[in-house]
Amino acid sequence: MTDTAPPLALDDVVRAWALLHRAVRDRRSALRTPVLASVGADGAARARTVVLRAIEDAPRLALLHTDVRSAKVAEIEAAPGVTLLAHDPRARLQVRLEARAAVERSGPRIDAARAALSEAALADYAGVLPPGAPLTGHRPARDPSMARQHLAVVILSVQSLETLQHTPEGWRRALGRPDGAGWAAHWLVP
Ligand SMILES: Cc1cc2nc3c(=O)[nH]c(=O)nc-3n(C[C@H](O)[C@H](O)[C@H](O)COP(=O)(O)O)c2cc1C
Repeated sequence: MTDTAPPLALDDVVRAWALLHRAVRDRRSALRTPVLASVGADGAARARTVVLRAIEDAPRLALLHTDVRSAKVAEIEAAPGVTLLAHDPRARLQVRLEARAAVERSGPRIDAARAALSEAALADYAGVLPPGAPLTGHRPARDPSMARQHLAVVILSVQSLETLQHTPEGWRRALGRPDGAGWAAHWLVP
């Protein structure tokens, strides 16, 4: 008879956080492009794909880049409770972060992000009109000299991390909350 120790919820949470760390640098990781859900001014959910730019540990933060004029910025400034949802089909893992979001428009993080922007990424921020504005043609007017000023960093302060992991025995679901330098974690019914 084999006597394997039962899995720990904490291990699933720690592993998911480590995978998010790795995803920042791994363009092939599905966890690198999660969905950010916020609450619109009308109370309805708004969701969009974003790129995970950085993960920090103390405190536990997830960092995103966006155009300061985009709808999500106004939304999260009015209602900072957001969800970041990622799914990695290869790892058979869903990761759900609940977080408080804040937008940084100046400071060292912005300076570093602006300095690191590639030419291709610069083009994403060069629109003269704000993202989502109606267009008459299909090509928006661009002013590359303004691009860096449109960049904002969205800082997600993680409130909880939930994993849903498929295993040969079926699904298992863990919930972790930042607790000092670690996590407090327990299992949930999947
Ligand atoms: C693969 C992918 C990655 C994206 N990454 C970002 C991103 O990092 N930041 C961002 O603001 N928008 C990103 N977008 C565009 C958003 O999904 C969205 O269309 C745009 O930000 C406008 O959203 P909003 O009007 O809800 O603010 C990405 C879209 C895709 C398909």
